[in-house]
Amino acid sequence: MKKSNMFKIEEMNLYKTTDRFLNNYKHLKKSLKRAPTLEEISDIDQLHYNGIEAVNEAILKTKIKENNIVLDIGSGIGGPARYLANKTNSIIYAVELQKSLNDIASELTNNYKLEKNIFHINADILKYNFNKIKFNNIVSWLALYHIPKRDELLKILYNLLENKGYIYVEDFYLKKNITNNEKKLLAKNFHANHLVPLKTYKEELKNNKFYLLDCLDMSADWTKFTQDRLLNFKKNYVKHIQINNKNTADNILKFYSLAHDLLSKNIVGGIRYIIKKNI
Ligand SMILES: C[S@@+](CC[C@H](N)C(=O)[O-])C[C@H]1O[C@@H](n2cnc3c(N)ncnc32)[C@H](O)[C@@H]1O
Repeated sequence: MKKSNMFKIEEMNLYKTTDRFLNNYKHLKKSLKRAPTLEEISDIDQLHYNGIEAVNEAILKTKIKENNIVLDIGSGIGGPARYLANKTNSIIYAVELQKSLNDIASELTNNYKLEKNIFHINADILKYNFNKIKFNNIVSWLALYHIPKRDELLKILYNLLENKGYIYVEDFYLKKNITNNEKKLLAKNFHANHLVPLKTYKEELKNNKFYLLDCLDMSADWTKFTQDRLLNFKKNYVKHIQINNKNTADNILKFYSLAHDLLSKNIVGGIRYIIKKNI
């Protein structure tokens, strides 16, 4: 599944009713009767698995520290970028394709007074011109499999990364052979534009002059995470309808079911890895 598909990313249920993010944030703020901490909003603003634990892992493994310049690819509503900036006082360029998500990201970043640390950029990572900026580190959670043209992407990242820098990624790979019809469904419902077997995934990194330092198969962990998330969402379904509305709650329910199905049926697997330039 290497070619770009014809489906819009907004067709994916996770991205359909984006006003829920600020609704959920405001509801939490109201019930706490104060501004929630970044840890407290992590269930709302971290759109990957294992929340801030996964961001702490990136900080540790890629040694992000004060004043480092970090690129976050597919930054969503900015949860990882805010947590990173707040914890390390680094400078983050957070690149997000969808304007609606990027606008919410900017609003929340302003609320937490982190706008001096984070530049929210509404752009396609394959097209954005960073001029001469070089990054100490690059991070990305659950975004790369959305992006077509893997070789092109890796070439861009190679040029953006400082020679001694690290890239930390969490992403999906294809775990079993699927039919064309299943591929089409994955392209539509999961916006999968680059989903390849793990062996191919690693070869692509190597062929683009990256050295794999560490690679962890997250499939079992993410299967459990998505199962718990789904059960929890079902338990609180009525509350979600009250905070948002039925349409929004149903979109999320469908997406959480799909993510769990794909992982538990071994159609997709998850990986967490760190790479360096091979120079
Ligand atoms: C599953 S979300 C994860 C968001 C964020 N990384 C997080 O963990 O909270 C993946 C994000 O990647 C973004 N994305 C997809 N393709 C992109 C591209 N070509 N350039 C920039 N962002 C992209 C999507 O719009 C989406 O917001």
